[in-house]
Amino acid sequence: MGHHTATVCLWLALGSLTPVSFARVVEPRDPVPQGYHAASYYPAPHGGWVSSWREAYEKAYALVSQMTLAEKVNITSGVGIYMGPCVGNTGSVDRLGFPQLCLQDSALGVASADNVTAFPAGITTGATWDKQLMYARGVAIGKEFRGKGANIHLGPSVGPLGRKPLGGRNWEGFGSDPVLQGKAAALHIRGVQEQGIIATIKHLVGNEQEMYRMYHIFQEGYSANIDDRTLHELYLWPFAEAVRAGVGAAMTAYNAVNGSACSQNSYLINGILKDELGFQGLVMSDWLSHISGVGSALAGLDLNMPGDTNIPLFGNSLWQYELTRAVLNGSVPVDRLNDMATRVVATWYKFGQDKNHPRPNFSSNTRSRDGPLYPGALFSPSGQVNWFVNVQEDHYLVARQVAQDAITLLKNNDSLLPLDAGDLTGGKLSVFGTDAQVNPDGPNSCLARACNKGTLGMGWGSGIADYPYMDDPIGAIRKRVPDVKFYNTDSFPWFFGTPENDEVAMVFISSDSGENTLTVEGNHGDRDSAKLRAWHDGDKLVQKVAEKFKNVIVVVHTVGPLDLEPWIELPSVKAVLFAHLPGQEAGESLTNVLFGDVSPSGHLPYSITRKASDLPDSIANLKGFTWGQVQDTYSEGLYIDYRYLQKHSIQPRFAFGHGLSYTNFSFTNATIRAITTPLSVTPPAPPATRPASVVAKYSTDIPPASEAYEPAGFSRIWRYLYPWLSKSDADAAHAIGTSKSKTYPYPPGYSTVQRASFPPAGGGEGGNPALWDVAYEVTVRVTNTGKRPGKASAQLYLQFPEGIEYDTPVLQLRDFEKTKELQPGESQELKLTLTRKDVSVWDVRRQNWVVPTAIDDKKGFTAWVGEASDKLKVACYTGEGRCVEGAKQPV
Ligand SMILES: *[C@@H]1O[C@H](CO)[C@@H](O)[C@H](O)[C@H]1NC(C)=O
Ligand SMILES: *[C@@H]1O[C@H](CO)[C@@H](O)[C@H](O)[C@H]1NC(C)=O
Ligand SMILES: *[C@@H]1O[C@H](CO)[C@@H](O)[C@H](O)[C@H]1NC(C)=O
Ligand SMILES: *[C@@H]1O[C@H](CO)[C@@H](O)[C@H](O)[C@H]1NC(C)=O
Ligand SMILES: *[C@@H]1O[C@H](CO)[C@@H](O)[C@H](O)[C@H]1NC(C)=O
Ligand SMILES: *[C@@H]1O[C@H](CO)[C@@H](O)[C@H](O)[C@H]1NC(C)=O
Ligand SMILES: *[C@@H]1O[C@H](CO)[C@@H](O)[C@H](O)[C@H]1NC(C)=O
Ligand SMILES: *[C@@H]1O[C@H](CO)[C@@H](O)[C@H](O)[C@H]1NC(C)=O
Repeated sequence: MGHHTATVCLWLALGSLTPVSFARVVEPRDPVPQGYHAASYYPAPHGGWVSSWREAYEKAYALVSQMTLAEKVNITSGVGIYMGPCVGNTGSVDRLGFPQLCLQDSALGVASADNVTAFPAGITTGATWDKQLMYARGVAIGKEFRGKGANIHLGPSVGPLGRKPLGGRNWEGFGSDPVLQGKAAALHIRGVQEQGIIATIKHLVGNEQEMYRMYHIFQEGYSANIDDRTLHELYLWPFAEAVRAGVGAAMTAYNAVNGSACSQNSYLINGILKDELGFQGLVMSDWLSHISGVGSALAGLDLNMPGDTNIPLFGNSLWQYELTRAVLNGSVPVDRLNDMATRVVATWYKFGQDKNHPRPNFSSNTRSRDGPLYPGALFSPSGQVNWFVNVQEDHYLVARQVAQDAITLLKNNDSLLPLDAGDLTGGKLSVFGTDAQVNPDGPNSCLARACNKGTLGMGWGSGIADYPYMDDPIGAIRKRVPDVKFYNTDSFPWFFGTPENDEVAMVFISSDSGENTLTVEGNHGDRDSAKLRAWHDGDKLVQKVAEKFKNVIVVVHTVGPLDLEPWIELPSVKAVLFAHLPGQEAGESLTNVLFGDVSPSGHLPYSITRKASDLPDSIANLKGFTWGQVQDTYSEGLYIDYRYLQKHSIQPRFAFGHGLSYTNFSFTNATIRAITTPLSVTPPAPPATRPASVVAKYSTDIPPASEAYEPAGFSRIWRYLYPWLSKSDADAAHAIGTSKSKTYPYPPGYSTVQRASFPPAGGGEGGNPALWDVAYEVTVRVTNTGKRPGKASAQLYLQFPEGIEYDTPVLQLRDFEKTKELQPGESQELKLTLTRKDVSVWDVRRQNWVVPTAIDDKKGFTAWVGEASDKLKVACYTGEGRCVEGAKQPV
């Protein structure tokens, strides 16, 4: 999250009145449905054994070895919300030159800052299905964070994955499929981190709805109850890809998994993220989700954000001075604190931030030049806080390219599109809908974009950036057809003549969602009120326009799928475009497609069903209020989105991956080649012992109490969070720790002995490195057989052999590529790959990835390649080593 105004802050403060009694959340827990269990996993694995991180850890060791107890504690926590320029500000160790780290939202640009680019949202980026653009957008975002002096970029978001169509924050990620999310996230991370900015993969895990996500005095955050195989094959998948890509930071989710809050879930952080996935960076909490001090440290959390308890601004923390106390009194092992501090410092070194990294030159708290340095302190010194550094460079170009290449043509009867501007002059084009024009109050007028007024370019909450401008559709349309008639209303005019047969109408509709901290038109983050209907009676507007006009184009700005049934089959609704959430570049990107400068090339990053109930209740609906902990059980297992629809042979209105063009493509001359042969059933075992970590070299003795004393004469900022204790508190804690007169009630299974071996699925960043061995390589020649230039999307879906011992979805996306813009007749060969992991299932009993085989299995795996999950053109069989065109797809 991360909000920048006192209003939101106060709201948060009141909304999350703190209970100290949250210790009980660690153990015992509220009952979760039978069969779900949050296991203990201790101790937290040391970081620093992966070779690509070794140098950074050695440098970190050299620095952290010199730190006192209070200094180590200082860098594992924020100094309090609104206590510095960024949404998160860590403590520093000025004595040794380790600065405060600036953590800043959001995944689509620098939030709460001037002179930045408002990039298209994640969902829009996913809809491009273009790896180069996913990377290029990451590069540009990374540059802007660096230009503003941030250290840590709070993105990308892959959790929520998009399990629930009504989920509020799906648009921050890339689409309802783990491979689309995972590849997009990895490319984003690479782009961002190459700029010396630490990326953050979030939110681990199961934050698939907004309502009831947070722990507060009246209720625990909901529990996402996820079985092991579903976790590995769906929700964890993109996190594994991110770790594999070397992501420097990870953020836990607000909610619980299997009854244990993610910020202190030892199985998730220690077991899954740090041990199995071999994560080397730092793990932070989501904002104000820290609910236990000792418990979260033992469970593997490394950084508490923004430092406060879940009631901010009173100067209370469960870490800082309490963590100092917990180390002195022996409850949190010194070894754990060493690892925490080393992870933070090593990540900073890994991305070269020790060398000429700019300091923040902007403030999240105000857009004025001057302001309080610590607004959270109430009485604060003031000074210059904004330097108005313009970091936009030419990033509007990549932003526009993403917005344009994401535009998804769902339907185009009678080839109504592209339009010819010349045919439309003389008042033959009419545009309806307030979504066509920028919010008349200004694109940034609503706090945290929490309103749906004017062109919808992004959802609301923390996942936003300020628009430097909004290139709105109507402005761009006027440049093509100056005498366009614009009806800036969402209700059809009362008196309306009869248009000529050749007149064209365009209707703009929208659907918004966001973060649960703010409610918009009755939607509490999730689309709980609007559901899948267009907002502002948009469906009725389309129907009315379609009654009058013979040629109607519907343009949709949306966070996710919509129910299109009220009008999709009307004969005059000839063309439908999903422009998703384009950010600042909504106009020209759209007119380039509408008027045929380019062919549309976006494809749906989710399915659009005919009715919400085509999906099972567990995902079609949001969890409502219940007393106690809301239980959100993933009873549908692997079967979300197209995986569910295909299993049950339900025809969606528009399938996952669907997207039309103004031209046609053929897929020919496909080949498949086995690369890793033979492919053993499980990956080769990781090394028997894990390489030593520098963290094991520190002393683990409880340090002298004096390392925690507040320096004499230190002048505190009111309510700021510090790591120091009074002399008497420090001495008392130290006495307990050294005499062991009191012991901490450790959770069952607690241990301080580092594991000597890796889990079978572990051994490298992202898991066992052999999981990324290329098992098969598929090539296909894509030819533009139509009359206009265009880009084709090639999507590879895997079908497991029949007769294997695992139930698997019929088809699963495994890779994708996009052609360059092909001229008519031009062709391009694309290469797609299947890794060992791609052809494996997670075997719960073996706790490993298994390549399943069937007796009598000659065909082997089938790699289907085509333009959409329902438009597969080529089938390649691994067993026979050949590909055929025109085979009938299994669903
Ligand atoms: C949740 O419980 C299920 C069933 O016991 C288990 O398979 C799974 O690993 C658990 N997940 C987590 C993250 O604890
Ligand atoms: C902790 O960080 C704050 C903020 O940078 C700084 O004022 C304070 O001196 C630091 N404390 C220690 C022990 O380094
Ligand atoms: C961008 O920076 C300039 C100064 O370089 C400033 O005048 C302008 O107000 C800034 N823009 C915004 C939107 O704050
Ligand atoms: C702001 O960042 C720029 C680089 O983007 C840097 O040159 C400048 O020193 C920074 N300003 C401040 C006040 O730190
Ligand atoms: C040590 O201090 C921590 C933080 O205040 C507290 O939670 C824990 O119970 C203390 N342990 C003992 C053994 O007193
Ligand atoms: C519109 O096109 C679709 C296929 O693209 C076709 O199934 C449908 O019948 C067409 N509808 C009309 C009214 O022409
Ligand atoms: C693409 O091919 C289909 C079937 O061959 C044809 O009906 C359609 O008109 C073609 N579309 C374009 C844009 O050429
Ligand atoms: C592609 O296959 C066709 C036959 O289907 C063949 O005539 C053609 O030469 C092949 N093209 C290439 C580039 O291999």
